[in-house]
Amino acid sequence: MENFNNNIISGECIELLNGVTAPFADLIFADPPFNIGYKYDKYKDNVKSDKYVAWTEDWMAACINALKPDGSFYIAIGDDYAAHVRLIGEKLGLTLRNWIIWHYTFGQQTKAKFARAHTHIFYFVKNKDSFTFNDTAVRVLSDRQKIYKDKRANPAGKLPDDVWNEFPRICGTFEERQGWHPCQMPESILARIIRASSNPGDLVLDPFSGSGTTPVTAAKLERRYSGIDISEEYVKETRKRLQLVQNNPIEGENSNKWAEHAINELKWLYHENKISTEQLTDEPYLLGLFTEKFNIRMKESFHSYTAEEIRKKLRSLRKSGKLGPLQNRVKSKN
Ligand SMILES: C[S@@+](CC[C@H](N)C(=O)[O-])C[C@H]1O[C@@H](n2cnc3c(N)ncnc32)[C@H](O)[C@@H]1O
Repeated sequence: MENFNNNIISGECIELLNGVTAPFADLIFADPPFNIGYKYDKYKDNVKSDKYVAWTEDWMAACINALKPDGSFYIAIGDDYAAHVRLIGEKLGLTLRNWIIWHYTFGQQTKAKFARAHTHIFYFVKNKDSFTFNDTAVRVLSDRQKIYKDKRANPAGKLPDDVWNEFPRICGTFEERQGWHPCQMPESILARIIRASSNPGDLVLDPFSGSGTTPVTAAKLERRYSGIDISEEYVKETRKRLQLVQNNPIEGENSNKWAEHAINELKWLYHENKISTEQLTDEPYLLGLFTEKFNIRMKESFHSYTAEEIRKKLRSLRKSGKLGPLQNRVKSKN
C-alpha cells in the first residue's frame, strides 16, 4: 500500500484508494473537476454526462474505502452534478448532514441568464451516530452580539449556518493565489471544515488535491495530510507550497508573537465574523468578543493576545492590503 501519511502522491485516485486495505482517513475533502471545460494539466474536463456520473460513483466509492468508520466526507460540486452526488452518496450508504451553499461574489458574467455565484458542498458522514464535530472551534459571533450588542447573547456565539457567504473566491490579486493552478479553493473554507470535522493529529485526505489547498491548510492546523493528483506538475508545486508551511512552524515558546500562523488565524477569523476593521477597532465590546474567540483558537499557542494587540494588527494588515475584501459585512445598530 502507498504511504498516505503526510504525503502528496502523483496518480489516479480511484486506483490508489481502491488499493487501500485498512481505512486511514479521518476526514476527506474532495473537489473534483466539475465537467465544465476547465483546462487542467493532465485531465480533460469535458466528458459525456453519463460517463462523468459513473466516474463520480467510482471515485466516491474509492474514497469511502479509505475513510475510517467514524470519518466525515465533504464534496464540493457545481450545479450540473449536485443532484447526482447527493443520490450517489445515499446509494453508497453515506448520511448527509448538511447541503452547504458557498456563495461568492466575483461570479462569472452572463448575457442571457442570471450569473452563477455559488458552489455546493456536501457534508456526509459514514456513521450517522459517531463522527467528530467540534462546534466551539467554528462558532462565530451571533447577530445578537454583533448587531444588537445584547449582553444576554450566548457568549460562545453561534454555529455558522449552511449558506457560507464570507469566503471570497481566490482571484488573481490574492496573496494566497498559486498562478499554476486554474481553480483554487480558499484556505479559509478548508480551515472551517478541517477544524469542525477533525482533531489535531488526524489525517485529512484530498483525492483531487490540485494546488494543495487541503494539505496545506491541514498542516497549518496540525493535522496530518494526504493529497493525490493526476498531474505530476501540480504535485511537484504542492510539495513546494507545503515546504513553505514547514519552514514557518506554528508558534513555540521563543517565537515571535505574530508568527505567520497567528496572522493566518486572525485573517480567517476576521472573514468568518464579517465585521469591518473600522467597527472592530472602534467598538470595544465587539473587539473584546473577537479577542476572546481569537484566543480560543490560539489556545495551544504560548501567547495570549490582548484586544489592543489585535486592534493594532488588524489595522496594519488592513493598511497593507493583506486582509482581503470582506464579503457581506454586518452593520451594528448604535
Ligand atoms: C478542481 S481541481 C482541485 C482544486 C483544489 N481543491 C485546490 O484548491 O487547488 C481538480 C483536480 O483534480 C485532478 N484530477 C483529475 N482527475 C483526477 C484523478 N482521476 N485522480 C487524481 N486527480 C485527478 C486535476 O488534475 C485537478 O488538479
